Amino acid sequence: MIACGGEVVADGRFVALSHDLNLLAALGVRIVLAFGTRIQIDALLKERNHRTHYRMGVRVTDAVALKCVKEAAGAVRAEIEASLSTGLPNSPMAGADIRVASGNFVTAKPLGVLDGVDMLYTGEVRSIDAAGMRATLDTGAIVLLSPLGYSPTGEMFNVTVENVAARAAIALRADKLVFLVDTMGVEDPNGGLIRELPVAEGERLLRSDVEVAEDVRLFLPHALEACRRGVGRVHLVSRHMDGALLLELFTREGVGTMVTRHSLDHLRSATIHDVGAVLALIAPLEADGSLVKRGRELLEMEIERFFVVERDGLIVGCAALYPYPQARAGELACLAVHPDYRDAGYGANLLEMIEARARADGMTRLFVLTTRAAHWFIEHGFSEAGVDDLPAAKQAMYNWQRRSKILFKRL
Ligand SMILES: CC(C)(COP(=O)(O)OP(=O)(O)OC[C@H]1O[C@@H](n2cnc3c(N)ncnc32)[C@H](O)[C@@H]1OP(=O)(O)O)[C@@H](O)C(=O)NCCC(=O)NCCS
Repeated sequence: MIACGGEVVADGRFVALSHDLNLLAALGVRIVLAFGTRIQIDALLKERNHRTHYRMGVRVTDAVALKCVKEAAGAVRAEIEASLSTGLPNSPMAGADIRVASGNFVTAKPLGVLDGVDMLYTGEVRSIDAAGMRATLDTGAIVLLSPLGYSPTGEMFNVTVENVAARAAIALRADKLVFLVDTMGVEDPNGGLIRELPVAEGERLLRSDVEVAEDVRLFLPHALEACRRGVGRVHLVSRHMDGALLLELFTREGVGTMVTRHSLDHLRSATIHDVGAVLALIAPLEADGSLVKRGRELLEMEIERFFVVERDGLIVGCAALYPYPQARAGELACLAVHPDYRDAGYGANLLEMIEARARADGMTRLFVLTTRAAHWFIEHGFSEAGVDDLPAAKQAMYNWQRRSKILFKRL
């Protein structure tokens, strides 16, 4: 899910962005693009000498403004569709065959009366037709969302691009939501770029007196909401930098700010005080054969090899890394997430943490022995191997009765 303000089109930067979108589409990435029209609406209102009022920072869309909204949305949509239709030879769009689809995917409701003022045709997203959007994405098309939503009464409301983008990303359970902004991303008070922003810190920033750029003030609350409600990664990336979208998505460091659900504090090395909680977490999995039995004594001895995910003071996940220095390999063991907290990415977060530690310790391969979760690991880049592939020391300990599957991942 990619969201940009109307400035990207007004500045002529959409052409460069369409090259990046073309590449992503060619790679098979399913794309939804939401655009805004604030700047175009302002220009049209100015042309018509019409002044609109604002309440709590939100424009009151009266009948004249709604006309401008429709005009602006139509014009920007046409510009975007034209750029995405380019296919000139000797250009980054050569042979591109992008189909663009838009429709009534966004249902809106009026914002109503704010602080004593009727906001008229200013609306907010009420629901998103995720199934319809998915069906359109299945045809290979890019879905284009304008800042307009329709109501069951047949009316039309002006909604913000950030509202549309966040709600659509949540409804689609998008892997990523990227906001293209005026700054490099979220900046600290000294103007430095914050590369990783846990949700809790983002909330603190918005509550604080620290001055934040206009785009960040508009988009960050929606970025945080999307992240809290299950969108894997939310990014704020510069709209002025060529290739920023690709660099953010495909380089480890990225070039903007990535909003993450959990502060890194929540994912940490275990201490002796965690032994009881880890034992309680893994006991049922030991009982059903998913994990090898470990007694309290062994766990106390090995606890510094463990990482844990802590949520509101509760240990909800753990994993351990055992080094095999001679083979420059590491064993990932005892990966477990409490059943009430599964499917929320904690397992993947723990794996990422283990991989980072293994790399930092000079390991080039990670392996795991598992009876029940082989497919989970395969989906995370592991592939099956044989007992002979294990480091010699581990081979000697292989339990032929348990017959665990052996999986390796290159780091
Ligand atoms: C494997 C495990 C750690 C995953 O934890 P998690 O926090 O739920 O993982 P994530 O949220 O990152 O991933 C969830 C995805 O993996 C899938 N998944 C979970 N367990 C799976 C399994 N055993 N096989 C295949 N896929 C699995 C989920 O269906 C979900 O897929 P979807 O979101 O695409 O629908 C957790 O299921 C667990 O504790 N299992 C029991 C212990 C175990 O077998 N550990 C491995 C041996 S070391």
